[in-house]
Amino acid sequence: MRIIFFAGKGGVGKTSVAAATGIKAAERGKKTVIMSLDVAHSLSDIFDMEKALINQSKGEPVQVGENLWIQELDIQEEIEKNWGDIHKYLSTLLNTTGLDEILAEELAILPGMEEVSLLLHINRYARNNHFDVVLLDCAPTGESLRFISIPTTLEWYINKIFKIEKTLVKYARPVAKRFYDLPLPGEDYFDAIERLFEKLRGVDALLTDPEKTTVRLVTNPEKIVLKETQRAFMYFSLYKMSIDAIIMNRVLPDAVNEPYFQDWRESQKRYVQEAEDYFQPVPLLPVNLFRGEVLGYDNLKALGDKIYGSRNPLDRFFMGKPYELTKVEGKYQLKMKLPFIEKRDVALHKIADELIVRIGGFKRSVMLPRQVAALDSLKATLEGQYLLIHFDS
Ligand SMILES: Nc1ncnc2c1ncn2[C@@H]1O[C@H](COP(=O)(O)OP(=O)(O)O)[C@@H](O)[C@H]1O
Ligand SMILES: [Mg+2]
Repeated sequence: MRIIFFAGKGGVGKTSVAAATGIKAAERGKKTVIMSLDVAHSLSDIFDMEKALINQSKGEPVQVGENLWIQELDIQEEIEKNWGDIHKYLSTLLNTTGLDEILAEELAILPGMEEVSLLLHINRYARNNHFDVVLLDCAPTGESLRFISIPTTLEWYINKIFKIEKTLVKYARPVAKRFYDLPLPGEDYFDAIERLFEKLRGVDALLTDPEKTTVRLVTNPEKIVLKETQRAFMYFSLYKMSIDAIIMNRVLPDAVNEPYFQDWRESQKRYVQEAEDYFQPVPLLPVNLFRGEVLGYDNLKALGDKIYGSRNPLDRFFMGKPYELTKVEGKYQLKMKLPFIEKRDVALHKIADELIVRIGGFKRSVMLPRQVAALDSLKATLEGQYLLIHFDS
């Protein structure tokens, strides 16, 4: 199964690009589902679908063309299917603490439940081979970063906390009953969590396998949008996901040559160039601004043609990691593949959370995670084709 994430800032064109890619994949005979993780679901809208049809779907895939389905999750349905006993315990707990029953039920929808539900679907599709291709129309950057951290966090929770918690509750129950009014979670709760984990097993490996899963960052040639894309690039890399293309959407076509747009055209040109330098060797796929909104099958198909041309949209456009941040003997180390350089050519600068690496006339900047950006000392060494940057306090 092939999985592609479409991520980026709100409004850059994620949903449109995901849908366009879906059309291209389906036309190649691949059974494709586009799933939406944005609460402001808009897949059905851009396919010009009746809202009633999607509402009746109860969060299951709805066919929109030959080989093509869209799926917008319905959290209430997910709770009934996957979260039953967990949700029941949480709402009882909240209700006992004095909250109104309806409010307690609502609040017992924990942040992350929706994301985990989506992971459950992906894993199920991977296990039963129901679809050849799963495309994910992600929520705006911040939320999708939380999403990709979930598999790792869950792994950690089940290994480190869950087993202890389960044992603790077992022994504490008789004592706790005498002192607290709060209900402790019962066997049902723990069993439900264990079942959930069983269903999620392997999803982490699936998402970090570059043969199967890649991320495409959708961006626009504008300063603020690009900054966010750089950040997203760093975080996805940090979680070991492979980014195989940057889709530079909404570039003004050359035909727009009225003086009014002069400044726009110049600044866009600059930002497209900057993005190319920044993200290389990951390819940048430019897409021009259309005459109007990209709605309906035909327009989306035209968008797909613009993005991919004659390429197969399911190919991995880039393999390998442009950089890798690791911890070696307790110290952070950034490893960048830069063949043919010499140490005296390298200059490093750090401005806030951005690391700028200059090698002769070539400039590369990398957004650093907060804990790394806080470290003052920088040192570079060369090891074969790699430049290693060592951070220290
Ligand atoms: N290349 C383009 N040319 C013109 N309009 C576009 C283009 N790409 C996206 N749009 C329009 O921009 C708006 C936002 O796109 P959308 O895909 O919903 O963004 P996101 O999912 O990132 O929030 C939509 O109205 C869409 O039709
Ligand atoms: Mg969207």
